Amino acid sequence: MEIIGLFPTWYEPGVGSGWVVGIMSTIHVLFSHTSVGASVFFMILATIAYRQNKPELLEFVKRYGLFLLVFSYILGSITGPGIWFSTTVASPRGISALIHTFVWKWATEWVFFMIEVVGVYAVVYLVGKIDQRTHLRITVILGLASYATMLIILGILSFMMWPGKPEWFTEGGYLNGFYGANTFAQLSMRTMFMLSVTAVVGSIVTAGFTDLEFRRKMNRWLATFGIVGVIVGGALFQWYLATLPNYAHLIMENRLPEWFAPSLYATLGGMLVYFIAMLVTPRLITTVVASVATVSILIFGLWPEEVARESIRKPFVAGQYVYSNQIIARDVPGLGIKSELPLIEDKGILKTHIFIPENLRTITDNNKVEVGQTLAMILCSNCHSLTATGIRPMVNYFGGNTNVVEIKGYLLGALATGNTLYMPQIPLKDDEAEALAAYLTTLGGTH
Ligand code: HEC
Repeated sequence: MEIIGLFPTWYEPGVGSGWVVGIMSTIHVLFSHTSVGASVFFMILATIAYRQNKPELLEFVKRYGLFLLVFSYILGSITGPGIWFSTTVASPRGISALIHTFVWKWATEWVFFMIEVVGVYAVVYLVGKIDQRTHLRITVILGLASYATMLIILGILSFMMWPGKPEWFTEGGYLNGFYGANTFAQLSMRTMFMLSVTAVVGSIVTAGFTDLEFRRKMNRWLATFGIVGVIVGGALFQWYLATLPNYAHLIMENRLPEWFAPSLYATLGGMLVYFIAMLVTPRLITTVVASVATVSILIFGLWPEEVARESIRKPFVAGQYVYSNQIIARDVPGLGIKSELPLIEDKGILKTHIFIPENLRTITDNNKVEVGQTLAMILCSNCHSLTATGIRPMVNYFGGNTNVVEIKGYLLGALATGNTLYMPQIPLKDDEAEALAAYLTTLGGTH
């Protein structure tokens, strides 16, 4: 019998495995964008400080750097491995797809990351202790190494959505996967927004300055960066949208809630107002206000952005060939990979998934509901929470429905044929569909 090497499913009943990854990633984006943005900012400030003899700018670099050591390099370094751990169990084959294509890219990123971590310590602790030229050089190395980590990760993130060039599917090759229509649009847009995030987080640092004149001066620097970031970033966002494939636009039109676009522009507008306040009334920007602004960016800026990115690559989790539920749905000759759908269509998931307990491989009247629950965990739970809370709870669609025939009809119709825009094709054998339907009727609730 042919068996598919699927991994056991990580079933997270509270919010769903997808959200665990999502929440962690969103927080991580805040830390990582701040660290890259601040490193670039330090590079610019240190250059001006040494050229024009403005030691107060170095004082600021030191203070912000010290803050970053905790904010980005401790919290960021916790959430970074957190993403690795959570994605590895939530989406082992998605991660595998990325590693098989980009293993050396990732190794390179690690080298730059190491330089970045050592660099930020060096910049903070050596200011005033070594000669100016050497310190400036270290600051420039920090800025460039930091930006390099972003460049590399970005190519990998773009690949998660769409492999750079269509030839990647047939020929493989990491450059084909890495550079695509959207790589540079995304890079430049993120660079700009990164400056804005750095400015908002920086206002937490300046809020702690007792010297008002110093605070005003540094807020002016930060706010200028922030405003440029929002305006140029907003324009580049249009470019980015234009590089997305039609399919993504279709999904965005159909799947993103109506409030999405207005709230996005409201967030950008809110940031502009905040930066203007930083320019005009620096006294207003206290530690509390700055912290609230930072958390707002997390909730109103980064979270929707991550959710949108997640939505528009549906039903795939990586490279347009690994479904969110881990099944490989497309031949990728470049990697010697074959679609698993034909085998599942032919034999059913119960007979082909390696981790199905033996007593559930064959459906009986006694184990039917249990088999159905197992199928729901494997095939649906990555996108639909099986409890009442979390990501798109299943109970919202089937709650209160006790008609097995009707549900089975839906499963064999829309899902088995892959006839929805955003869901994977999930070929179910007749008895599997019946078992899943039987389980779905037990979800309770009313609808
Ligand atoms: C790749 C992620 C993904 C997987 C896996 C998935 N779904 Fe969905 N499903 C979605 C999305 C996205 C929607 C649209 C949600 C909305 O509009 O509220 C959806 C909607 C639905 C709906 C509402 C009707 C419809 O067609 O829009 C039903 C019913 C449903 N899913 C059942 C299932 C079942 C049963 C499974 C497992 C056999 C499953 N889904 C697996 C993503 C997924």
